[in-house]
Amino acid sequence: MAPRKTPMEWAYEHAGHLRKKAKEIEDGPAKYLIAEYLSSLTENDYQVGPWTILKNISLAYCLTPFGIILDSNNIKERVYLDPFSGSGIAPLKDLPGSERKAWTVGSPIISTMMTDYPFSLYEFGDISSKSIDNLDDFFQIYGDLGFKINRTCVDANELIQSCCYNHSDKYVFAYLDQSGFQLQWNSLLSIFKLKRFDAFLNYQTRLAERIPPNKRKEFFGPACDNVTSCSDCDEILDVYMNEIRKMGLYVTPIRIGKDRTDQYYYHLLHIARKDSYLSIVNGLKEKVESFQGESIKKIWNDLAGYSQQTSLF
Ligand SMILES: C[S@@+](CC[C@H](N)C(=O)[O-])C[C@H]1O[C@@H](n2cnc3c(N)ncnc32)[C@H](O)[C@@H]1O
Repeated sequence: MAPRKTPMEWAYEHAGHLRKKAKEIEDGPAKYLIAEYLSSLTENDYQVGPWTILKNISLAYCLTPFGIILDSNNIKERVYLDPFSGSGIAPLKDLPGSERKAWTVGSPIISTMMTDYPFSLYEFGDISSKSIDNLDDFFQIYGDLGFKINRTCVDANELIQSCCYNHSDKYVFAYLDQSGFQLQWNSLLSIFKLKRFDAFLNYQTRLAERIPPNKRKEFFGPACDNVTSCSDCDEILDVYMNEIRKMGLYVTPIRIGKDRTDQYYYHLLHIARKDSYLSIVNGLKEKVESFQGESIKKIWNDLAGYSQQTSLF
């Protein structure tokens, strides 16, 4: 039996795949589109720091074991719902002194072009027309990938409602990668009513204490009143997860970042009705939570090409 990979080896392997795919795209037909997008960046555009790499690796990692289970259950009609898709290009924050803008593949590219288990339909959406225009151009350049890819410039909650309405009888994998607290409780409820689903929800733990009072109800739903009496952001997370669990659902929090004293501290919540994927998700949790700031920064530097010597290949 092959020895079990350490979390660092595991992360390097997946980061290597991300880098290889970005390089392949950079050398391929979309190279001018990528260059143009990177040169047009402003501070309002999404750009990623070291911890985000763990989130992207987690998505890339899950698609295969999830696909295997879906195949074994003969579930053919699979919808990938990504209502905070971004542009497909995830620019890396500049390292002081770096001359070149580096980027990595975002969730739209990971989910369509980096899996042997593609979905039958993709629903991408983003509120930013710049991001959706770029995504549109990207997929036009690559042409028919063998499945339908919709991309819409729309508020995430609107896309979730319409997708859940149109595909209530299908399996939906919802990747809810919000940057704040845009995801409304009612939208989550629409997902929870689906016959079959898995959701990964980006929950901004550290920022939860700062949600303005007039937005709390929209985000926390019925848990809103209990949130008010919490003494820190970890307690707020527990209240939120318990509200979801009250509906008979499984919730697994995967911590990204060290703890609440860290500037970047959030959780990827896996939510499901069945426990079919729990061993996969718990395995992922164990690996992701073992990372400390320095080791993930090293991978990020390698991914960006900021290191003199890379161990990525
Ligand atoms: C964390 S980024 C997503 C990154 C993307 N998943 C990736 O892997 O590259 C969050 C995205 O949500 C978008 N966004 C913010 N508010 C939104 C809303 N109300 N509806 C839809 N998209 C929104 C932002 O424009 C941004 O592109």
